[in-house]
Amino acid sequence: MSVITDAIAPHGSHLINRVATAAEKEEFLAQADSLPRVQLDGRATSDLVMIAIGGFSPLKGFMEQEDYESVVDDMRLANGLPWSIPITLSVSQEVAEPLQEGSWIRLDDPNGKFVGILQLTQKYRYNKVHEAVNVYRTDEDKHPGVKVVYDQGPVNLAGPVWLLERESHPLFPPYQIDPAESRAMFREKGWKTIVGFQTRNPIHRAHEYIIKCALEVVDGLFLHPLVGATKSDDIPAEVRMRCYEIMLEHYFPQERVILAINPAAMRYAGPREAIFHALVRKNYGCTHFIVGRDHAGVGDYYGTYDAQHIFNEFKPEELGILPMKFEHAFYCTRTQQMATTKTSPSSIEERIHLSGTKVREMLRRGELPPPEFSRPQVAAELARALAIGSSN
Ligand code: ADX
Repeated sequence: MSVITDAIAPHGSHLINRVATAAEKEEFLAQADSLPRVQLDGRATSDLVMIAIGGFSPLKGFMEQEDYESVVDDMRLANGLPWSIPITLSVSQEVAEPLQEGSWIRLDDPNGKFVGILQLTQKYRYNKVHEAVNVYRTDEDKHPGVKVVYDQGPVNLAGPVWLLERESHPLFPPYQIDPAESRAMFREKGWKTIVGFQTRNPIHRAHEYIIKCALEVVDGLFLHPLVGATKSDDIPAEVRMRCYEIMLEHYFPQERVILAINPAAMRYAGPREAIFHALVRKNYGCTHFIVGRDHAGVGDYYGTYDAQHIFNEFKPEELGILPMKFEHAFYCTRTQQMATTKTSPSSIEERIHLSGTKVREMLRRGELPPPEFSRPQVAAELARALAIGSSN
């Protein structure tokens, strides 16, 4: 047994490992053909992985009704531990009907590949609109997270899971760093304070600014882009990863940064997802977590700083990871640098506001983002990847 010397304990105190051992895998494979099958969608597949590698500690499986309802209503697991997003496996009535509680279910990925086992402890129905309103703060199906809830089946299958095996990521193998590994890397580097950065957009200068402000006060940065399912108009993960690599190569002290992928799917749940994102990064060993403007938001469903305010609903010690809150950052033409209203005396006309959404819109119109938006190497990479002209 190794002595735990991590600066920060995982959520619920133990890092969960639900990757099947060699013996378990052999047993599961031997039974595979005789077990009832459930096909996972992309999100449930990444949830299975996140549970198995400990990213969702203390969860050992898909949520039972007591946890689910407590999370939806009170942002806590049934035992009182903060948790803000339901992690559920939802299926149709037809799929659920023949499945017996107490039995083992074979879980297949969207391609039909056997990837895991669910020990079914419960099946239960749930109220989709109630989940939407509480978790996403809207019942509109235009919200991409709510749409997923409305489109999924009406029955949740719950119970502990096993991941058959931890395969290396097909696209980003060097950046597949699971929580046990990131914790070991932080220890090795002697980092005591580590800030986690969640992102689903190509890195732009406001990101760079807030990350670097944070880096001024902590030992290291865990740059943790989400590469699970995102909405269809988000920039593909391969392109975003290349942009992060370019940024690190040219603009960051590389020894102070670890770039790793977050395999989870995006929910776009704004404030509640900010809490969830922070807890996940705590499991990876981070002590701090960046929450900027409209974190994990979409459209105008959330107020600019709602994702920061929600942290006040918890005691810092029960979350166990500190949010580093940043105001809306912009390029200030008066001081000719990135700034926020906290650091710049500029008038509104002197501020160039940046956002991933704006960059996406410009690229779609065939324009390159200007240097106040993106570093030129990143703009060129975006242009190349999205096959638009790169002459200006
Ligand atoms: S998110 O959905 O993952 O939040 P994005 O990748 O754009 O989207 O944001 C990553 C982080 O940077 C979030 O914490 C977000 O709040 C923050 N952020 C993005 N743009 C800005 C900005 N202009 N000013 C301050 N914070 C920002």
